[in-house]
Amino acid sequence: MSGEPLLAIDGLRVEFGPTDAPLAAVKGVGLEVGAGEIVGLIGESGSGKSLTCRSVMRLIHPPGRIAAGSISFEGRDVLAMSAKELRDFRAHEAGMIYQDPFSSLNPVFRVGEQIVETLRSNLGMGKDEARKHAVELLDGVGIPDPERRALSYPHELSGGMRQRVMIALATASRPRLLLADEPTTALDVTTQAQILALLQRLRAERGMAVLIVSHDFGVIAQVCDRVAVMYGGHVVETAPIGTIYEQAEHPYTRALMESVPELESAGKRVRRSGIPGSPPELTENLEGCVFAPRCAYARPSCKDVSMALEPVAPDHQTACPVRPFARTTAGAAS
Ligand SMILES: Nc1ncnc2c1ncn2[C@@H]1O[C@H](COP(=O)(O)OP(=O)(O)OP(=O)(O)O)[C@@H](O)[C@H]1O
Ligand SMILES: [Mg+2]
Repeated sequence: MSGEPLLAIDGLRVEFGPTDAPLAAVKGVGLEVGAGEIVGLIGESGSGKSLTCRSVMRLIHPPGRIAAGSISFEGRDVLAMSAKELRDFRAHEAGMIYQDPFSSLNPVFRVGEQIVETLRSNLGMGKDEARKHAVELLDGVGIPDPERRALSYPHELSGGMRQRVMIALATASRPRLLLADEPTTALDVTTQAQILALLQRLRAERGMAVLIVSHDFGVIAQVCDRVAVMYGGHVVETAPIGTIYEQAEHPYTRALMESVPELESAGKRVRRSGIPGSPPELTENLEGCVFAPRCAYARPSCKDVSMALEPVAPDHQTACPVRPFARTTAGAAS
């Protein structure tokens, strides 16, 4: 990535519990998203993906708190923004699709009205202009017969259509960054592919960057330029998607890729293999590498690992110093 990234997160720490005995759920995450880049944030349930995204929007609800770190957007300090700056930031510059679509779509209002409200409050549009634009937005995200669909209530739409409405809402003000938290979970594979294609189209048309959260490598592989793998509140590896496929270095990344759901011809998913054991609890205070208890390559020195990302190539970083999969340098064949 050249120049300053659009989004730069550094040393992000999110805590719950009392301040004198905090429970950290995000433990020093570093992550960058370049302008127009699609980055995948992947990891098992509870690894801190949603909290990382919500931190960017400053939407960690008390008693949860951002305890340390920095978040910079186009060089501006998001954590230092005033209430007004934050409102503008959320209204114009960063949009988010939340993990549970029902928590952000109000069930008692027609979807068109909800978009109209967003356009009026975020972009200051008048009623007629907002109504016209809402239909255009629904059309723009591939909703057929948008005039009629605008009159539907959320429960009258299919999961895929609801997700398109969410995307229309989150991108109405043409933000430079979209945070998409599991935008395709619970959708069938065909609908999932359509939603991913829509995100790619928005990136191509507008140069919009996307941070897409998933626990499915199949999803990430379809759309992402780069991947950050999360485990136990840490980013453990980051690299371009091609590098991850060819040369993932962290044993957790390898294990996650091996557990990728296979697609059957019937469109059903089967899990090929899981990762033995389970992710750490927040209350567990692990010394050294947080993945070591489940890692087939763990050795005694892993209890001294700091979890800091170290470069193994200019665009590839890993938190595993053991590097069991590192390619040995080609011998000087004579
Ligand atoms: N309000 C809260 N109070 C206490 N703990 C919380 C709270 N919100 C999240 N956590 C904990 O923080 C950890 C990370 O949560 P987060 O929602 O970021 O995980 P995730 O990676 O998005 O998981 P999933 O794939 O299930 O969505 C989890 O262990 C979760 O239980
Ligand atoms: Mg989540």
